[in-house]
Amino acid sequence: MGHQEFVCHLGTWADAASGVVSSMIVCQCLATNEAAIREIHALGGTTVSDVYQHCGAGSDCAGCVATIQAVLDQCALATLEDEHPRARVRV
Ligand code: FES
Repeated sequence: MGHQEFVCHLGTWADAASGVVSSMIVCQCLATNEAAIREIHALGGTTVSDVYQHCGAGSDCAGCVATIQAVLDQCALATLEDEHPRARVRV
């Protein structure tokens, strides 16, 4: 999973049902949104360090590191629940 495989993006994307949907900005210094972090996770990134290596998020003021970790944790839980639908994880 190299940096060239992923381009951080900011802003909105078209939603088939309702039009435009925006994604929460997680890292203001590097203009990285939640969707970008979820995409990094989908590509195999599981740590804050992976996110940093792919788009630099978290590398400036580090004020977003806890939020990056929270998004990664949500992704991990969703993956776990998809793989084991009868074992709902409660946090
Ligand atoms: S908000 Fe992410 S490095 Fe500053």
